Amino acid sequence: MTQDLNQWIPRLLKLWRKQCGRKFVPGRSALPLDRLLPSEQTAVVQGMLKLSEGLTRQRKLAGEHYFSDPSMLGAYLLYFWPISYLQARYALKDTQTPPAMVLDLGSGGGPLGAACYDMGARHVTFADRSRVAVKLAGDLARLADREPAVCLWDPQQNTGIPEGRFDLIGLEHVLNELWPADPERILRRVSMLRKIFTSLNPGGNMLLIEPALTPTSRDLLQIRNHLVQQGYGLVGPCLANQPCPALEKPSDSCHSEYEWSLPPLVQDLVKLARFQKKTLKMTNLLFGYSLRSEQQGKPQIFRIVSDPLVSKNKRLRLLGCGRNGRLSLALKPTLVSRDNRPFLSLKRGDLIRVTSAVPREGGLDLTEDTKVEVILRAEKHN
Ligand SMILES: C[S@@+](CC[C@H](N)C(=O)[O-])C[C@H]1O[C@@H](n2cnc3c(N)ncnc32)[C@H](O)[C@@H]1O
Repeated sequence: MTQDLNQWIPRLLKLWRKQCGRKFVPGRSALPLDRLLPSEQTAVVQGMLKLSEGLTRQRKLAGEHYFSDPSMLGAYLLYFWPISYLQARYALKDTQTPPAMVLDLGSGGGPLGAACYDMGARHVTFADRSRVAVKLAGDLARLADREPAVCLWDPQQNTGIPEGRFDLIGLEHVLNELWPADPERILRRVSMLRKIFTSLNPGGNMLLIEPALTPTSRDLLQIRNHLVQQGYGLVGPCLANQPCPALEKPSDSCHSEYEWSLPPLVQDLVKLARFQKKTLKMTNLLFGYSLRSEQQGKPQIFRIVSDPLVSKNKRLRLLGCGRNGRLSLALKPTLVSRDNRPFLSLKRGDLIRVTSAVPREGGLDLTEDTKVEVILRAEKHN
């Protein structure tokens, strides 16, 4: 894996130098193709310290557009990118068949897609909200003689998922940047992932990688539990589709850890920045394509057989009777959307069609993506 990564280093270096011109190069110094000049190292190390602080301890930079700062861009391309590349390679090392069609969502400079190329992927689509990021990903892939697709994607702005069907869809270090301050962030991310699942080919996988920090790891484990409960099957590293035991104690989390070796250029940067990077850590999950999840996208017909009831936690509840018996349908006021708004006006006897609701014990939770259509109003019966 490190050998494959070594081949990306001159490309990463070339791209970074192209972006910042000779900003960090004194006079007319010649530029070696496989290593940094001391002045360049200093700039990259400064960026590493800034970016690392911003993405880990205080997390002030999570969700920010840090690709426009030349030293942080250097830190990303020459330090974080190689780490992300190796994380993707390790997370996919047990995959039986290399994925042919890949979608790298929140790609940044595209280390996940690059790792997939090296595993035999035929085609990679790189998508991110940042134009600079997808351009970097595309330019890098072209430097490796690939023909990538690049597009803009921002789930917070409801940008659609890039078109196509994929054998692998990966989100690496992206989830924690989506709706970071929103108390409903877990549900929002789950709802986004459910939509993304529909772009998988049968037999395809969804790869989620997050930093091994306790808060980001625990958020991913909560997402895991929601998805498992909704019928999405885990392929690894978990062995059982049960609620994650690491969430039982508030201070616990779960991560993978691998022995690794870094390319010399990156090793030098790690030494200069005095980072402790003895092993590679991450929280990673691989989900499989699941028929059950596909069926959940299918519409279900219900006759409303109760009056509306507002429960203690302010959810609006109605009983719906359909092919699977009588179920409690519930909608939180914070999740009312244009698609599910008709639910608010339902009365006993109404006939409705519900699409993409989330199963829970004894009923269905309506989310922002759930569609509620009134087929026939009760008062129109006679
Ligand atoms: C920490 S970087 C990870 C990039 C890459 N996946 C990697 O592992 O190196 C997070 C990425 O998420 C992207 N991002 C942040 N918020 C986003 C949003 N609302 N929509 C799409 N992408 C977003 C950023 O532009 C950035 O490229």
